[in-house]
Amino acid sequence: MEIPLPESARVVVPSKLATDLLTAVKKLPLYDDKALYDVKLQAAVREEIRTSTPGDGFDWLVEEIRKRLIRKPYCAYVSGLQFDDPNLLFFSLAGAFGDIVDDPYNPSSRLVRDLQPSTDRVIPDGWGVLNEQLHTDSTDWPQPNALTCLHCIRPDDDGGGRSRLLDIDTLLAELDKRLGQEMLRILHTEAVPWWIADEFGGGVLRTPVLTANSVRWLPYTIKFALEENQESLPEAISASLGAMENVLKEATGIIDFAMAPGSLWFINNKLSLHSRTPVKNPQASKRLVLRTKIQNSSGFYANTHH
Ligand SMILES: [Fe+2]
Repeated sequence: MEIPLPESARVVVPSKLATDLLTAVKKLPLYDDKALYDVKLQAAVREEIRTSTPGDGFDWLVEEIRKRLIRKPYCAYVSGLQFDDPNLLFFSLAGAFGDIVDDPYNPSSRLVRDLQPSTDRVIPDGWGVLNEQLHTDSTDWPQPNALTCLHCIRPDDDGGGRSRLLDIDTLLAELDKRLGQEMLRILHTEAVPWWIADEFGGGVLRTPVLTANSVRWLPYTIKFALEENQESLPEAISASLGAMENVLKEATGIIDFAMAPGSLWFINNKLSLHSRTPVKNPQASKRLVLRTKIQNSSGFYANTHH
């Protein structure tokens, strides 16, 4: 059963601040996407925007977002901003939380990536569209990204592609309610194999689904690791993973809402799972969401939970 995005996760930017931020960004030169891989340049761009925004407007907004990332439901939905075309404001707000790192070792990767239903990853044999299942991002990175930042340019015309999120507190409560002690123990302590992307050297990393302060979840990454390694899991571990999948299908307390054009959604990728609802016609859908991933964050997730 779904619930709306709580008011406590929302930040409405005052229109004066939105104008001030856009004015500050428009003073900047244009940068090449590749040049912006340099974290020093990222910091310099951000500092330019910060210092040329009157008062402490930039810092105020970053703090409002940060406060929401560390409390349930561990996400922040920001509306009321105005954006520049090269999206340096989006990029710089995201960068205020750490390094922007979309697949840093993949030469074809982009720091700000377009997500569109027509190019979303579809896995055959019943797995379907991966983004439609509750998951955490970068399960195939040795250290998944800390924060995922989304910027909605256009929603789907038919009302599909709604955003969903299940925070870790609600997830743990659901698991507690529905699974026995042994399955919970397995999910918390038994290492399972995760396939690691080639950019990070490939192979398999073994770690549990749940740790004291994080969740890592995309069953496909486990299945792929098992296939590649020609390995099978002990029955009790497989059963626990299956049980968690079933809990997620029926969980109560999943947040469901539509991102509006011009909004940002910051998701704490350690402390929540997210997905989008299906779209009727993926090839024709004009839904466009920009995404960037943040790593090496300090100060917003590590010391706050459990
Ligand atoms: Fe995702």
